[in-house]
Amino acid sequence: METLECIENRRSARKFKNTSVEWEKIGNILRAGQLAPSSGNVQDFKFVVVTDKTKRSALANSALKQHWIASAPVIIVVYSEPKITQRSYGIRGDKLYAIQNSAAAAQNILLAATDEGLGSCWVGAFDENMVNSVLGAPDNARPQVLIPIGYIENDIPIPRKNRMVDMVYINNWGGKIVNPDLAMDDFSEVMRKKIMEAKEIIKEKAPTIGRDIAYKGKEGVKKIHDKVKEKFEERKKRKEKEFEKDLSSEEEVLEDSEI
Ligand SMILES: Cc1cc2nc3c(=O)[nH]c(=O)nc-3n(C[C@H](O)[C@H](O)[C@H](O)COP(=O)(O)O)c2cc1C
Repeated sequence: METLECIENRRSARKFKNTSVEWEKIGNILRAGQLAPSSGNVQDFKFVVVTDKTKRSALANSALKQHWIASAPVIIVVYSEPKITQRSYGIRGDKLYAIQNSAAAAQNILLAATDEGLGSCWVGAFDENMVNSVLGAPDNARPQVLIPIGYIENDIPIPRKNRMVDMVYINNWGGKIVNPDLAMDDFSEVMRKKIMEAKEIIKEKAPTIGRDIAYKGKEGVKKIHDKVKEKFEERKKRKEKEFEKDLSSEEEVLEDSEI
């Protein structure tokens, strides 16, 4: 899955199918967590993978009785060990970097789960002592995020998100371009269009994909893949050109009026 498409597709899932998740997928998801950035590369995080039914229920209970959590076949608990971070960075390491490091790992995990076709949710409301007691973790280990993961039944609609023009400033706090839609080409809109374009291409190719696979085997699949990629690149280049054109005309306007 393309990175932006994966980001676009991630939703918080709170209902899971009663189907187990392949260990290979869990492995890939954990690898994504492992590769997260961390302050000075301290890698002060640990991941506890919980599949045991009784423990899943106990974790749901620790999470202020959010019982739906237990319905996920796997819960990954992202831990930080702030003492490690504190050794290198003092109070800032303990109170900030340790949290940020595990947040980066958690987000990687959510995106990798999406990429594997799985639903997931960031759960931050829980009693830390209860979670530690369920998992037998030491006091110096801080559970940061519970991430229930599993297959989901239906697509989840995108919740309301703030508009880019209301949340992005240019050069200064509060700095707005005269015509932000034109100059910045609302990126979420660009992402949405790209996904629609990709879906169209797939729809176009879908009737012949099965036949091509049957007759041409791997070679056929590669050709289709290359073709789709080529079309995608063509459209991307076209879009970039349009964007540059829009931007240069916008810059002219900016010379006079500014932010
Ligand atoms: C720090 C943090 C804590 C959260 N805690 C919970 C939680 O305890 N329970 C829950 O159902 N969702 C929780 N969420 C998920 C948010 O509700 C969700 O991200 C938000 O509604 C936006 O929806 P989306 O993730 O589908 O974009 C949490 C998210 C974050 C970032």
